[in-house]
Amino acid sequence: MSRFSTLSALVVLAATSVAAGPCDIYASGGTPCVAAHSTTRALYSAYDGALYQILRDSDQVTVDIYPIETGGVANGPASQDFCVDTTCVITTIYDQSGKGNHLTQAPPGGAATGTDPNGYDNQAAAFGAPVTLNGLLAFGVFIAPGTGYRNDATNGIATGDAAEGMYAVFDGTHYNGGCCMDYGNAEVSAHDTGNGHMEAVYFGLGTGFATGAGSGPWILADLENGLYVGDNTAVNENDPAVTSRFITGFVKGEPGNQWAVRGGDPTTGNVATYYSGVRPSPDYNPMSKEGAIILGIGGDNSDASQGTFYEGVMTTGYPADDIENQVQQNIQAAGYAVTSLVSGPAVSVGSAVSFQATTACCTTRYIAHSGDEVNTQVVDSSSDSALKLSASWNVVTGLGNSGCVSFESRDTPGSYIRHSGFELYVDANDGSALFGTDATWCPQSGINGEGNSIRSWSYPAHYFRHYNAIGYAASNGGPSDFDTTTLFVNDTTWIVGAAWA
Ligand SMILES: *[C@@H]1O[C@H](CO)[C@@H](O)[C@H](O)[C@H]1NC(C)=O
Repeated sequence: MSRFSTLSALVVLAATSVAAGPCDIYASGGTPCVAAHSTTRALYSAYDGALYQILRDSDQVTVDIYPIETGGVANGPASQDFCVDTTCVITTIYDQSGKGNHLTQAPPGGAATGTDPNGYDNQAAAFGAPVTLNGLLAFGVFIAPGTGYRNDATNGIATGDAAEGMYAVFDGTHYNGGCCMDYGNAEVSAHDTGNGHMEAVYFGLGTGFATGAGSGPWILADLENGLYVGDNTAVNENDPAVTSRFITGFVKGEPGNQWAVRGGDPTTGNVATYYSGVRPSPDYNPMSKEGAIILGIGGDNSDASQGTFYEGVMTTGYPADDIENQVQQNIQAAGYAVTSLVSGPAVSVGSAVSFQATTACCTTRYIAHSGDEVNTQVVDSSSDSALKLSASWNVVTGLGNSGCVSFESRDTPGSYIRHSGFELYVDANDGSALFGTDATWCPQSGINGEGNSIRSWSYPAHYFRHYNAIGYAASNGGPSDFDTTTLFVNDTTWIVGAAWA
């Protein structure tokens, strides 16, 4: 950079000086961050280091993603450019606090082992959770069931009954009842070592002891062997069911049998106290915190939950309510907003479509079905009308997320393409949340540069794929035969055209 451009850069920085970040606010309250994780933005005004690392599945090369300016938003477009014509996963979420408490692929634990050869959990697809911050594109961490991050050898995180605070910002519309969409303090062994060995923010339909009002989902706290939002009271009417697109949850605890759970929609800047008072019993006073950090899993690596994480921190010391309120206002000022979940040629709700394979072997083949099995079949203008109908699909609003679509069979109205065990089926919609989730697809620009790739909303590493003429929701290099990297890019790319019938 020339002297002249350095000077202009300084002038620009001075003119747009970045406001304090959440960790600057915590430090001003005497409760500094000892872990700070976000794939969407810097959490200190002076942070200009790497935010996260992604791995490109085509050649196994990694790259670090930085904020676009010191203290600024993550460079989402840089991650997209790096991953063009292939798929990517998030390998590391860096700790911005300087303590080195980075999060990486979670190892096997007491409750669950993952699908990779070493039993590790899955890593999140890099583009499952697009969002904008004051108009700038960034990506959250989309936790599909089986996904998890962890650090069991941390530095500076509270142990025993020591005071700490934390918050996490989640997608308020992405959740389930599986254990456990957590962010926070957990066991260093990845095994359940008993009550009080965790202190983490949780978001979901919480089936482990306490709940909030109504039917959920709720911000709760995972204290191990129980999700709590109070003492031993089973229902806390002060903890509302979340209805907002974004939700911040705060959890904090200190010696002397005191803890609190707070939260609110960050786009309003407001925080409510759901609970502040004594701990549940037995064995939660004093606490036995161990100081590992988890994201998207339970302390024992239970990995059945789903949710989306945008940012979160852990502090040393018990943050004042007013400090947390300022942090929420800072998150509000970051300007989180929804953005499109789809890309590439439009696959419009209300249209009727066909899906033509693009692999050289198979360009006469289209997605069709035989009974409930989705497959590819050779279809042309002379095919009989039954086959043409079998290869024709209505595009409807996504059953599980209105930002994406579902595909209704034109010969079997009320039945939709869904994945189950990562195979594709045409099944009747039973109205369940699970069916809606499994039948929701977000069309993207085709991975091989043509047409579209049809990405699962709920498992964004998985795409419509033909393999031996059967339909799958395949991931690039995943554990099944149909996940093979050979021809993955072509087998997952489709020309979406007019319906045959
Ligand atoms: C894969 O797709 C690319 C891009 O369209 C194409 O050039 C190539 O021939 C295809 N290969 C096969 C085996 O289908």
